[in-house]
Amino acid sequence: MSSPYCISLADVEAAQSSLRGLIHLTPILTSSSLDQLAGRNLFFKCELFQKTGSFKIRGALNAVRSLALTARGNREQPKAVVTHSSGNHGQALAFAAKLEGIPAHIVVPRTAPHCKKAAICSYGAQVVPCEPTDESRVEVAARTVEERGGVMVHPNQDPAVIAGQGTIALEVLQQVPQVQALVVPVGGGGMVAGIAVAVKALRPDVRVYAAEPCNADDCYRSKVTGELTPNHHPPATIADSIKTSIGPNTWPIIKDLVDDVLTVTEEEIKHATQLVWERLKLLIEPTAGVGVAAVLSKQFQSVSQAVENVCIVLCGGNVDLGSLTWLSSAGREGNRK
Ligand SMILES: Cc1ncc(COP(=O)(O)O)c(C=O)c1O
Repeated sequence: MSSPYCISLADVEAAQSSLRGLIHLTPILTSSSLDQLAGRNLFFKCELFQKTGSFKIRGALNAVRSLALTARGNREQPKAVVTHSSGNHGQALAFAAKLEGIPAHIVVPRTAPHCKKAAICSYGAQVVPCEPTDESRVEVAARTVEERGGVMVHPNQDPAVIAGQGTIALEVLQQVPQVQALVVPVGGGGMVAGIAVAVKALRPDVRVYAAEPCNADDCYRSKVTGELTPNHHPPATIADSIKTSIGPNTWPIIKDLVDDVLTVTEEEIKHATQLVWERLKLLIEPTAGVGVAAVLSKQFQSVSQAVENVCIVLCGGNVDLGSLTWLSSAGREGNRK
């Protein structure tokens, strides 16, 4: 039977074969002190250790390899790949394009953390600046595609990207067979959609939760209203990798296959991020703290009472240390208690 969505389990499995040997099998870590705080067993999937510092290499490399394969069939080479990204997909696409020998042009909001822009350049791609709005990203990327004769690789709506991100689920189901729920930060929804397709095909008993900041709660509002409801204003959140809204390819999957959306405040994100730094000794970026904050929230206690074993995707570790102005000694003291 053909899939009602833009990808199926077969696409995720094909992505896993395509990526084999090119990316890391990231470890699962545990922490008894965080288990105690959460009142259940937590399994941390450490995508901050992934190549380029986030899970994004999975989708980007799968997309570039699919493009290169199709082009070889037509006896040509893509002239360039282009994308717009707050940073992590940009770095990942730059890295992937370099591996395949294709020029990359990355449209980045001028407000993006410095370390992310520097990393894109270090992978040999060109950074093209835009304003920090969804409209500006799309417009500048479309112009760059025209000018460079390139192919757009969307950070979260491209089916090959979504399938690549779904490979996280194939690994988690092998690494933590007792898992009963996965908690996944959501921006454009590529990661949670890919994971949901794989999990619900292989283990429909396992729940999939999306987690997002209250200040960027388009996914939550879409689920509540049953209509795709994007963020209207640029969201103000320290989880800078998930300011973007879910879109037309990820929404139908999220609507049907994601069990619930958990929202967390900025204070909860800060607290959870510091907890992971201090207890797990893992330098996650605040976006990864969103999943941890969600599992520690009251909302999670009420939606997942019978769930003992929870896997949280620690999705990235690209932190601009100089930008952590929200770190206060009061917050640090609070976590030590
Ligand atoms: C570290 C990190 N986590 C989560 C996300 C959200 O992924 P998606 O846009 O596929 O929902 C992103 C997206 O850029 C990211 O960089």
